[in-house]
Amino acid sequence: MSDGGQRTYGPLGTALVIIPTYNEAENIGLIVGRVRAAVPEAHILVADDNSPDGTGKLADELAAGDDHVHVLHRKGKEGLGAAYLAGFVWGLDEGYGVIVEMDADGSHQPEELPRLLTALAGADLVLGSRWVPGGRVVNWPKTREFLSRGGSTYSRLMLDVPIRDVTGGYRAFRRETLEGLGLEEVASAGYCFQVDLARRAVKKGFRVVEVPITFVEREFGDSKMSKDIVVEALWRVTQWGLKAQAAKLLGKDSGKDSGKDSGKRDGGA
Ligand code: GDD
Ligand code: MN
Repeated sequence: MSDGGQRTYGPLGTALVIIPTYNEAENIGLIVGRVRAAVPEAHILVADDNSPDGTGKLADELAAGDDHVHVLHRKGKEGLGAAYLAGFVWGLDEGYGVIVEMDADGSHQPEELPRLLTALAGADLVLGSRWVPGGRVVNWPKTREFLSRGGSTYSRLMLDVPIRDVTGGYRAFRRETLEGLGLEEVASAGYCFQVDLARRAVKKGFRVVEVPITFVEREFGDSKMSKDIVVEALWRVTQWGLKAQAAKLLGKDSGKDSGKDSGKRDGGA
């Protein structure tokens, strides 16, 4: 599977697009085709949680006919965070220079990926953002928009991170960024995984840049967003925020500025 361990395309190395899936049979072929067309040199890893609808088998068929497509079969539904963490380990191990997060359902348009990758030349982490000027959402009910904007605003204020779209899931990381985030400590299972990684990146002093995207609500299949996912996010964000504020009050460094000395950045070591 690997080209001798190191993948060297472009100055940052070859990109791996990780696509987590749970029951995305109607979408998997479309999304893989669109990524392959939009960024032909990129590789794809489908991280499937043993989807009952056979998404994993469809992914295997795609992989059999295309050496740029890989599949990670997981034993059951363990959440978006767990699937991404396993995908990151796989991708870092295989030597990819850039790792991308992308939903399977077409909400994150592969045609916008070149813009994210271009921005990564001047950043350590690029966030596709719905809530910066130029960013937008197509076909979302008002209730969902309210939830997403509210979640982002609450997280931004609570965690003191200067990011407009903290919960978004369309992202490009340099491998060094992922290596510096302390992934082994990440416990978030659901979508608050995204908030967790964003706050870690800011805390460690990485350059985080938001690029506007047009998020298009899925046409096929169902969202896996649930009340449990919202509750986990609220609970964790509140906990992280209170901890950081308590540390500040007690005069301890909350970590926000200490990242600059942590040697994680270029030339910092
Ligand atoms: N492997 C795996 N395991 N994949 C999962 C799981 C899981 O437990 N749960 C969800 N996924 C996959 C879906 O199959 C899809 O490819 C992607 O994760 C996103 O899931 P959706 O259910 O389509 O998410 P959404 O559209 O409601 O939420 C979007 O907005 C969230 C909040 O802004 C996504 O972009 C999220 O990433 C984002 O956090
Ligand atoms: Mn979706």
